[in-house]
Amino acid sequence: MAWNRKDILDIASLSVDEIASILDMADGLKEISERSIKKVPTLRGKTVILFFHEPSTRTRISFDIAAKRLSADSISISASTSSMVKGETLIDTARNLEAMHPDVIVIRHASSGTPYLLSRKISTPIINAGDGTHAHPTQALLDMMTVREAKKKLHGLRIAIVGDIDHSRVARSDIEGFTKMGAEVRVSGPPTMIPKGIESLGAQVMYDFDEAIDGVDVIMMLRIQKERQQNFLFPSEREYAQRYGLNSTRLKRAKPDAMIMHPGPLNRGVEITPDVADSINSVILSQVTNGVALRMALLYLVAGGLHSADDH
Ligand code: CP
Repeated sequence: MAWNRKDILDIASLSVDEIASILDMADGLKEISERSIKKVPTLRGKTVILFFHEPSTRTRISFDIAAKRLSADSISISASTSSMVKGETLIDTARNLEAMHPDVIVIRHASSGTPYLLSRKISTPIINAGDGTHAHPTQALLDMMTVREAKKKLHGLRIAIVGDIDHSRVARSDIEGFTKMGAEVRVSGPPTMIPKGIESLGAQVMYDFDEAIDGVDVIMMLRIQKERQQNFLFPSEREYAQRYGLNSTRLKRAKPDAMIMHPGPLNRGVEITPDVADSINSVILSQVTNGVALRMALLYLVAGGLHSADDH
């Protein structure tokens, strides 16, 4: 596949063929992490900067591991340890990073649109690792990889995404990705957490959780993002768990082989009970494993690994 994109900013701009090619490449790269020596020389001499302005465990560490498994040099900076604390702007910081000739900048930022701004201001390829409530394309791609791996297809599957849809960049990117690949997506949660117009992304809104998970192939549970909420959007965690928490009784409404997913971090006992999170249907840790391979594929494509494709 010829890869001509400078950046990975969202799912909306990727074609069905591009998504399928990324997933195929990630499938192929996955076995590198299962070797005793987990390293190939494909991106030797390339530099990846991880510029995270929000906390992250899965995304930052998996990008770091992905870069190292491809032999790229990776450097992490955060706003609190950079000269932004002395008043330097984001754009000036990015321009200074660009001046050091990295090959990719992976950015996470609390403000929606920040990766697009950087993409316009600097020539270094940008990968969006999550911007505000807008998009989390690499999470959606690893979610699609995980479902396709288990179900051998995406087209025709029924997927329920449940919880704080309004504040979830994962929900928006997952809706775009899964519907683009031919799946049917339903969203559910308290009316206060379902944004107006979400149907325009291709999702069907079902406020009744039990109805939403009836006969589905995949249930994606989401965390309540208290850090992004301005007001109290539900009476109590106990009531939320009763109305919108996934437990073993509710799970029976889905298909017997329904996959249980969660982008993390989990709030056990709130949106999902521990027995369900750790059940045989749960692929939550497979999502994390696949995140490394998926991000290896993206770094390989964006950092120009295709030019040295014979190396691995
Ligand atoms: N899924 C996800 O983005 O997790 P982190 O916030 O830990 O990166």
